[in-house]
Amino acid sequence: MRYGQFDDEQREYVIDRPDTPLPWINYLGTDAYFGIVSNTGGGYSFYRDARLRRLTRYRYNNAPLDLGGRYVYVRDDETGDYWSPSWQPTPERELDDYECRHGLSYTKIASSRGGIRAETLYFAPLNETLEVWRVRVTNNRTKKAELSLFSSVEFCLWDAQDDATNYQRNFNTGQVEVVDGVIYHKTEYRERRDHFAYFGTSAKDDLQGFDTQRETFLGPYRGWDRPLVVENGTAKNEIAHGWQPIGSHHVRVHLEPGETREVVFVLGYAENPKDDKFDPPGSQTINKTRVRPVIDRWLDSAQVQRGFDDLRAYWDQLLGSLTVQTPDGDTNRMVNVWNAYQCLVTFNLSRSTSFYESGIGRGMGFRDSNQDLLGFVHMIPERARERILDIAATQKADGGAYHQYQPLTKRGNNDIGDGFNDDPLWLILGVAAYLRETGDHTFLDEPVPFDNVEGSEAPLYEHLQRSLRYTLDRLGPHGLPLIGRADWNDCLNLNCFSDTPGEPFQTTENASGGVAESVFIAGLFVLAAKELAVIAGLRGQDGEEVVYRAAAEKMAGTITEHGWDGAWFRRAYDFHGTVIGSGENDEGQIFIEPQGICVLGGVGLDDGLAVKALDSVAERLATPHGIVLQQPAYSSYRIELGEISSYPPGYKENAGIFCHTNPWIMIAETMVGNGDRAYDYYRRINPSAREEISETHRTEPYVYAQMIAGRDAPTHGEAKNSWLTGTAAWNFVAITQWILGIRPDFAGLRIDPVLPSGWPGFEATRGFRGATYEITVRGTGARVTYLLVDGERIDGNLVPPAPPGAVVRVEAIRE
Ligand code: BGC
Repeated sequence: MRYGQFDDEQREYVIDRPDTPLPWINYLGTDAYFGIVSNTGGGYSFYRDARLRRLTRYRYNNAPLDLGGRYVYVRDDETGDYWSPSWQPTPERELDDYECRHGLSYTKIASSRGGIRAETLYFAPLNETLEVWRVRVTNNRTKKAELSLFSSVEFCLWDAQDDATNYQRNFNTGQVEVVDGVIYHKTEYRERRDHFAYFGTSAKDDLQGFDTQRETFLGPYRGWDRPLVVENGTAKNEIAHGWQPIGSHHVRVHLEPGETREVVFVLGYAENPKDDKFDPPGSQTINKTRVRPVIDRWLDSAQVQRGFDDLRAYWDQLLGSLTVQTPDGDTNRMVNVWNAYQCLVTFNLSRSTSFYESGIGRGMGFRDSNQDLLGFVHMIPERARERILDIAATQKADGGAYHQYQPLTKRGNNDIGDGFNDDPLWLILGVAAYLRETGDHTFLDEPVPFDNVEGSEAPLYEHLQRSLRYTLDRLGPHGLPLIGRADWNDCLNLNCFSDTPGEPFQTTENASGGVAESVFIAGLFVLAAKELAVIAGLRGQDGEEVVYRAAAEKMAGTITEHGWDGAWFRRAYDFHGTVIGSGENDEGQIFIEPQGICVLGGVGLDDGLAVKALDSVAERLATPHGIVLQQPAYSSYRIELGEISSYPPGYKENAGIFCHTNPWIMIAETMVGNGDRAYDYYRRINPSAREEISETHRTEPYVYAQMIAGRDAPTHGEAKNSWLTGTAAWNFVAITQWILGIRPDFAGLRIDPVLPSGWPGFEATRGFRGATYEITVRGTGARVTYLLVDGERIDGNLVPPAPPGAVVRVEAIRE
């Protein structure tokens, strides 16, 4: 069953009923000002940091779901009937029709009731710190309509965590000011008064009034479903002192039959110039003169239209960097639009803000951000560059990494700490992806500090060297890398142990001091060391190239010796030296991660182990809904394994389909030449291909989810944690670079598709180092044997880089 459909031409997903299984959300903003918006108008906005600069309130895990939003109410002043065109927060008021169009950084929600149609377009214009709501109301009745519009937002007192917990303070701090129809929210943020929010409307003569105190607007003990002010049809013009400041405008709209009226609302964020901070306490000055022109500009209809057109052009340009025409519509729309879009959203927001991430919990992940950039580096390499420099500057002098850093300060996050021993290696893969895409090897000479300490700067290249060294300095009893607190799998905590029976514990100290080893990190090391060897070679550091190659080979040997279980790669050795992910175990006999990453590192490609491991995955881990993380699921908690065994079987890391890992297997399958299997796995978790089973899948059919419940779960096939997941980047890499095979390489653009057997070929356009490549893949052979580059034959599959601006025709022939 579906709840909508794709409009491929408009690049929108059109939801045609409001009661989707879960809120189906979208994102506003492209740079510094962001928000989430659901298909029923729920969501919130923030400036840069969802925790510390939150503009509006949202109530996570609330009943009903998804409350707090950008709500507009329409009131029929002749009958007193009122409703919200976004369905929420007035779901009892039935709509005659409803449609939500989620597009690229904008959402349009339209509906009708009693012959009145209202359509609201929400978007945040480029290069501004504000969002626009353009409301169009149409009278489809045969007689005139006397209506009122009420806008509404509930302001958050900036620090979302404090806002939701510290009421003894916060019921006293709320401050607003209303000047010429603009509501300024200027609650001080602790001792500082350097930023404020504003909420304005284009209505002038028709502006009847405003409200700023929530309980007055709603009425005592009422909810957003029946605000007293809306019910009575008259704003109270009351200024909030403390309690819960809100913003609401009351606008009267008179409409002749067939007439449409447009009213614009602008919600935004501003900072006072630095010296304004020193206004005497109590003067409550905010610099309105500076922002008023900005507000006025965006209240103008023509400017709104231009801003919206610019936003669409921005996306045209970004998505134009790679488009494909394959025989599969689900592949096309994911690659050309939605997967690419998700990659950029994930890059911007890391794991901070979604329906599942509260915006207060997490910073930017070291490993996460390095992987996220794999999915967007071809669209905006300069932002990947910036991100890499931020991440690398948090690396510690011993090569280790903070697991997360804070987006506002760009400092390592001490609360989470370090000791996730895979973290540093991802930096090598992130940098390698940037170099492959851009060819800009001078990047490696960029001075970057360690742990943000001034004076500690070393070339970026040295950071990569120390990343490898970090692993080599931490090898365990079998010569495999120590796992520390965890590797990619945050929940596999193998240094959990108890000296005293009945007293389980795990501390950072004992975790990083423990001797548990990870085959996953070993595979990742082989991959990273080979990458760094190539990079060293290209820098003319031949000696180092040899050393890194030898280190990779040695580690590959250790994997074969201690990490091979007979039919698949083992997962780890725990604190006690017990093997994990082996036929010797009663549960957790085979894990997906090492099968993927070892093959990606090239381990087992020459001796048949890779094929065997992948066959084992197909036999033991693959389900119709995707490949589960391990089998058999753990049926009870085991201290020596940690958090993984705390999940019920089939969920999350305990044998859920952790979608992030599936593309590793897809890529591995292409590496052994099995295009059918790679593509089959790709389709199993492709959200668009799962659209028909939306009532089972439940999350948005236009973006990947982190997890789908595994075969041990009673809700097998149900997705959770959509949007912000490494799944986005890795699936994009798997389909575009390995299955379709358009893969940036250090020396040029490789065209190396490994396609499903039924495909005659496909076409693609790919921007690469400033040139555009128009690619046609044809022929019926398994692999590309030669290319025609602007008609000239080149044996093999590597297209040499053309000068910037060139348009190059490439025919890739599979003989
Ligand atoms: C984290 C990743 C981690 C994955 C598996 C995600 O929630 O963001 O860093 O690799 O879980 O545990």
